[in-house]
Amino acid sequence: MKGIILAGGTATRLFPLTVTTSKQLLPVYDRQMIFYPLNILIKAKIREILIIVAPEHSGQFLNLLGSIFEKFNIHLEFKVQKVPRGLADAFILGKTFIGQEAVTMALGDNIFEDDLSEKIRKFKKGGLVFAKRVPDPERFGVVEFDKKGRALSIEEKPLKPKSSFCLTGLYVYDNQVVKFARGLKPSSRGEIEITDINRQYLEQKMLKVEKIRGAWLDAGTYDSLLEAGRIVREKKIFAKMDPVIDKAILCLNEELKAIAKKRLF
Ligand code: TTP
Repeated sequence: MKGIILAGGTATRLFPLTVTTSKQLLPVYDRQMIFYPLNILIKAKIREILIIVAPEHSGQFLNLLGSIFEKFNIHLEFKVQKVPRGLADAFILGKTFIGQEAVTMALGDNIFEDDLSEKIRKFKKGGLVFAKRVPDPERFGVVEFDKKGRALSIEEKPLKPKSSFCLTGLYVYDNQVVKFARGLKPSSRGEIEITDINRQYLEQKMLKVEKIRGAWLDAGTYDSLLEAGRIVREKKIFAKMDPVIDKAILCLNEELKAIAKKRLF
């Protein structure tokens, strides 16, 4: 299983915060946002991860993450997405990286309280998406599913939602996703949509849905970013991360402190 984090985009809703850095490098409590999706993949024992970034912030991602996971046997690759063409672009840009394997794709600005690693590790074929019950499903991609978790329908921002579960920013697919993504045409808003990939798995009756029980945060607005920091602290989400994440951050801090000391003398 390979892992992809989609950490490009323009983050217009967070202007001017995202003029100077990428949304996914903004702090959520005690660490940058990118560590949360990284944690999901690392916890699921995924050892090869592609991070897709926007050109203007690529250097900052390298500075932070460039080599900190190497000693833990986790290999990170970076790829620049020149234009934010849509979420499904992850599987076009990631084609060579994915090779013949299955892939888990996490959005760089989504934070989950639940430990989803078991579900990812048990994945065999088709598609697997994660749904959260929300009070306002009409604002999201809505998924309807049966008792066994088989998806029955998907609708984008429906006026009359068929369920109160919305799709979150974590997707697990078998290798067919590369082929499905290649065949996509841009939607009316000009993006290649992940919904259209899910629809293809749905048509094959191969789309499974897992419920998210704990907090799910999409840190894309001023309020949700602030809320994310508050909830991470309150629910101690930072403390439930894979130990490798904390060890890597600790090593990085030690390195930076040593450099800072040299600068002083
Ligand atoms: P969005 O929040 O939909 O888009 P955005 O981050 O550009 O923000 P805004 O709507 O405020 O302008 O993106 C969800 C995640 O996917 C986020 O981590 C950015 C990433 N993304 C890409 O990396 N490439 C893309 O082409 C798109 C559309 C999103």
